[in-house]
Amino acid sequence: MNAYDSRKMADVLIPMGYKEVTEAEGADMIILNTCHIREKATEKVFSELGRLKKHKKQAEAEGRKMLMAVAGCVAQAEGDFIAERAPYVDMVFGPQSFGTLPEMVAKATGAYGKERVIHTEFLEEDKFDKLPQETTADGATAFIAVQEGCDKFCTFCVVPYTRGGEYSRRSQAILDEVKSLRDQGVREISFLGQNVNAYHGLDTDGNDVSLAQLMMQAADIDGIERLRYTTSHPRDMQDDLIEAHAHPKVMPYLHLPVQSGSNKILKAMNRKHERDLYFELIEKFRNVRPDMAISGDFIVGFPGETDADFADTMDLIKIIKYSSAYSFKYSQRPGTPAATMGGLIREEVKNERLYELQALLAQQMRDFNEQTVGKTIPVLFDGVTDSGQLHGRTEYNQAIHLKGNARLNGHIEDVLITGTNGKSLDGDIVIKDVA
Ligand code: 5AD
Ligand code: SF4
Repeated sequence: MNAYDSRKMADVLIPMGYKEVTEAEGADMIILNTCHIREKATEKVFSELGRLKKHKKQAEAEGRKMLMAVAGCVAQAEGDFIAERAPYVDMVFGPQSFGTLPEMVAKATGAYGKERVIHTEFLEEDKFDKLPQETTADGATAFIAVQEGCDKFCTFCVVPYTRGGEYSRRSQAILDEVKSLRDQGVREISFLGQNVNAYHGLDTDGNDVSLAQLMMQAADIDGIERLRYTTSHPRDMQDDLIEAHAHPKVMPYLHLPVQSGSNKILKAMNRKHERDLYFELIEKFRNVRPDMAISGDFIVGFPGETDADFADTMDLIKIIKYSSAYSFKYSQRPGTPAATMGGLIREEVKNERLYELQALLAQQMRDFNEQTVGKTIPVLFDGVTDSGQLHGRTEYNQAIHLKGNARLNGHIEDVLITGTNGKSLDGDIVIKDVA
C-alpha cells in the first residue's frame, strides 16, 4: 500500500513540474513515506531524517531550496512529535491527505507566505477524488488501491487508527484506472486494500459491487491477463470471491493471514474467528482450484502465548501447507489494546518461536517450489535484472529468473521449470512450434 501511495504522490506532483528521481542528492523535495505497523518505526524515521538532512543543508549552501516531508502512518500517528523534534521538516502529512499535496507544497514553498504544513486530520471527502485518475505504469504489473482502512481492530494493530475506517472506492473509477494501465502495457493488476475482500464499492447506478464482481468486470477488459488481490480477512471471505478463482484470469494464489493457530490467542487478538473457519475457507478455495497457492501472516509471542498455543500455530501450518508466508515477532504498538495486556513473552522465547516457525515455512516453500519443477507453466516477465536476466512470476506468484531476450519483458510465455534454490525458480522458455 505504501509503494502504491508513493506512486500516487509522484503522480500528483507531475503537474507542478516535479519528476521522480532515484537519488536524494540534488533533489528539490524529499518525501519519506513511512510505515507504523511494527516496532521502532518512529526511531527509524528520525535516524533516516538525520541522514537526509545533509542534502537539505547542501542545497541551502548552494542557494537552492529543498523541501523535506514525512508522509504515511508514522506522520499520522506522531505528527506533532516529528514537527517538534525535526524543525527542518517542512511538511508532515498522513496517508489520507496526500491528494492535497499541491496545496501543501504551495504553502511550504511560500506561495502564500512560507509556512510549515502539518496535516494529520482524516478528510471528510473521498481521498481518492483528490488524486489524479491516471496512474503512471511502471512495467507489466500494477497495484490499484480499491479499499482502504480497517474496522476490525485486532488488538495488536495500529491500522484502524492510522488509516481510519473501511472505505471502498467507486467501481467505475477503478475500472477506468485498469483501462488506463492496460493502455500503458500493464498485463497484471493487483487490487489492494487493508481488508480488500471487505470491498463493497458503488457502481454508476448506485448499486453495491463486491470484490468478486469487480474482478469479473476487470477480467472482461481486453489485454488484462492476470488479477490478484491482497490482503484479505477470513471473516470477510464470501463465496463469490472463492468461486471467482475458477476464472482463468484470477490467479490461483491467496494471501489470507491467520496470525495464530490457537483459538485462545485468536480471541485475545480479536480476530473474530476460530481456526476451524480458516480450515473451512482454505478447503473451499482448494475445491475450486486444487492447485491454489496459499500465503499468510503469522505473529509469534503475542501476550499470553504458551508453548501449547505456539504448537497449535505450527500444527495449523502443517495442515495448510503454505507456498509462502510472512512472519513477525509480536511488537507492542502504543495505543493498541494489546499494549496493556499482561503475560508478555520474553524476547528470547519470541526469537526461538520465530526461528522454528520460519524454518517450517521455508521448508514448505521449498516443497511447493519443487512440486513445479519439470512442469511447463506460464510466466509473466515483469523486469530485467542488473545482470541482464529476465525476471518473472508464475501464476502461483513464484519468482523466476532466466536468460532470455529483453523483448519478452511484459509478455506471458510458457516456461519449463528446470530447478529451484528453494526460494525462486529456474527455467527455459518453451519455443513455440511454428511449423
Ligand atoms: N506486531 C507484529 N506483527 C504485526 N502485524 C501487524 N501488527 C503487528 C504487531 N503489532 C503483522 C500482521 C499483519 C501484518 C501486515 O503485520 O501479521 O497481518
Ligand atoms: Fe490490522 Fe489487518 Fe486486523 Fe485490520 S484486519 S486491525 S489491518 S491486522
